[in-house]
Amino acid sequence: MAVDVSQVAQLEVEPGTLPETMAAWVIREERFGEPTEAFQVEEIEVPEPGAFEVVVRVMAAGVNFNNVWAALGEPVSVFRYGDHPEFGHHIGGSDASGIVWKVGDGVTRWKPGDEVVVHCNQASYEDPEVHGLDPLAAPSQMIWGYETTWGSFAQFTKVQAQQLLPKPAHLSWEEAASYGLTYFTAYRMLLDRAKLQAGHRVLIWGAAGGLGVFATQLCALTGADAVGVVSSDEKGALVEQLGAKGYVNRNEFAGMLRRGGESPEEEKARFKESRRFTKAVEGILGGPPDIVFEHVGKATFPTSVLAVKPFGKVVICGATSGYTLDFDVRYLWMRQKEILGSHFANAWEATKANELIEQGKVRPVLWQTMGFDKVAEAHQLLRDNKHLGKISILVGAAAEGEGRRGEGPGAIRAEVGA
Ligand SMILES: NC(=O)c1ccc[n+]([C@@H]2O[C@H](COP(=O)([O-])OP(=O)(O)OC[C@H]3O[C@@H](n4cnc5c(N)ncnc54)[C@H](OP(=O)(O)O)[C@@H]3O)[C@@H](O)[C@H]2O)c1
Repeated sequence: MAVDVSQVAQLEVEPGTLPETMAAWVIREERFGEPTEAFQVEEIEVPEPGAFEVVVRVMAAGVNFNNVWAALGEPVSVFRYGDHPEFGHHIGGSDASGIVWKVGDGVTRWKPGDEVVVHCNQASYEDPEVHGLDPLAAPSQMIWGYETTWGSFAQFTKVQAQQLLPKPAHLSWEEAASYGLTYFTAYRMLLDRAKLQAGHRVLIWGAAGGLGVFATQLCALTGADAVGVVSSDEKGALVEQLGAKGYVNRNEFAGMLRRGGESPEEEKARFKESRRFTKAVEGILGGPPDIVFEHVGKATFPTSVLAVKPFGKVVICGATSGYTLDFDVRYLWMRQKEILGSHFANAWEATKANELIEQGKVRPVLWQTMGFDKVAEAHQLLRDNKHLGKISILVGAAAEGEGRRGEGPGAIRAEVGA
């Protein structure tokens, strides 16, 4: 059935009652490919909340790189995970702001009408890891709207009650939907995994990207000096505005990026470029970085291991350029460096990080707000690295700026594109 996406902000039911169907952007296995092909709007049944679950009316949804991977079906198909086999569709979207619409049995902290943002970590309450180690260690751990369906690119989303956080009152719906996944990930990487401290020096790859804009702000807030790597001077200006000590335009060091399959001579030349890059970084920071903030992977990882200071830490949560990493391990062991894996955040980290947003100490960085009809296009922009900061999608909100109920700094607007 054709779905009229211009009507997604209209609802004929009050909080507490769900309609039978909703408009949703859906990825199906047979459509895997470029985001503009893989995502299509369909009419889907609205899910009922189970025990300790909540159905939220999505007012705005945030766009993340994970659903570029979901669209491509790479490096793995999401259909192997979570509740996908049960429902046979993937409704992506791992960031949302919205209104609690219906709560399941056992939910006591939230009621219909509450305004919320959603963090994207799910785990079973029955796994012992959740109750003593970390929900990210639980065998049931999954990222909502990526490893599960019922994500936020739909009029309603189904989440676990523990995923809900109060919506910062001073933010509009689109601002509130824009930061969770990348900001909470950057928070765990720096504060909990790499133990960021005042006075640290930090190298941030992709500093104007989704993770980078928050890593940069967290360094400034903590009293650490950051240098951001970017691919244009406009992005560099944004990174400095966010509190970085300086930036490096990676186009001036294009030869340092690892492609794979280099000959020994090419590898030697690449290494020389990496050395030149580390000198530029040290020139800005006044010394080598204590922490390298990694998510680019294959292209940059050898340089990250080289650049970080002895006993320093490379903390990594992703691999945009490729996940099979190779690097000269002598620089790791001789200099006793550490590599730390990190993945999203737990509810406690998300809560603490959200408080910094509520206090206006960390601000969302919003590049563009788009209508519900633009979900596929927005993912294509990420795929083509043509974005700057975050993209939000209006779903239940009819226009930008709705949902602000208090005073405070809104999002920083990133005004230039790549
Ligand atoms: N595990 C987790 O919990 C988690 C959470 C969030 C994200 N991630 C992953 O982390 C990665 C980044 O996410 P994001 O939201 O920050 O994405 P993003 O908004 O696309 O930003 C990434 C930045 O990396 C830089 N970059 C891209 N390709 C590069 C290359 N070949 N060499 C050097 N720099 C390159 C680009 O900046 P410049 O062009 O300006 O250099 C880009 O802005 C993605 O792969 C994502 O899936 C993982």
